[in-house]
Amino acid sequence: MTKTPASAARAAAVLALVFGLTGAGYSLAQELKGIKSLREAPLTEDSAAPDVLKQATPADGFGRAYRQQPPLIPHKTDGYQITTENNQCMTCHDWPGNTRVSAPKISETHYVDRQGVRLDKVAGTRYFCQQCHVPQADAKPLVGNAFKNATQVQN
Ligand code: HEC
Ligand code: HEC
Repeated sequence: MTKTPASAARAAAVLALVFGLTGAGYSLAQELKGIKSLREAPLTEDSAAPDVLKQATPADGFGRAYRQQPPLIPHKTDGYQITTENNQCMTCHDWPGNTRVSAPKISETHYVDRQGVRLDKVAGTRYFCQQCHVPQADAKPLVGNAFKNATQVQN
């Protein structure tokens, strides 16, 4: 059977894919050298529970790494539930309740729906606060990084 140009091209594409992927896999393995797997016990055993890290907020607050960053949460959130009927974050962060506890009101952007319509309640797209806002623990990064915030990059 003779190869048609189309099948030859297909074979070349498959080869390129196989070699391409192997190459990528190899360089990834090189990069990850020396990094331990997150699972330390074999699959047949239960791993020890990780340490529970204490939540930490710097004395002068978190600041933001770039203008559009969702601000980090400076307080505990363990007790605050979000269900379809009730969002406990909003008892303190919705106007006018926020004025009673001196909490910042959620951003005006949180009252605008997907179509750009301004609402009198938090938009569904912003309902699950912890999708974007999270507290912090003083934990060592698993992998080193050279992250610079937006002001450091400008310097
Ligand atoms: C009992 C009231 C109360 C509740 C409930 C509450 N917060 Fe707060 N929150 C505050 C107050 C007060 C502050 C401001 C200052 C502080 O704690 O340092 C704040 C600050 C914040 C900030 C920082 C805002 C900024 O501009 O830096 C975020 C984000 C936040 N809260 C998110 C949440 C989320 C998400 C929930 C629900 C899981 C929640 N809060 C529940 C009172 C509350
Ligand atoms: C899709 C991501 C997203 C969700 C969900 C979300 N936020 Fe935000 N939030 C942001 C971003 C981004 C900012 C900062 C920029 C801005 O003002 O929109 C912000 C700002 C804030 C601020 C600071 C407002 C200010 O004027 O400084 C508070 C407080 C806050 N959010 C609370 C909440 C609470 C409470 C919820 C849940 C009801 C929530 N957010 C849900 C992304 C989100």
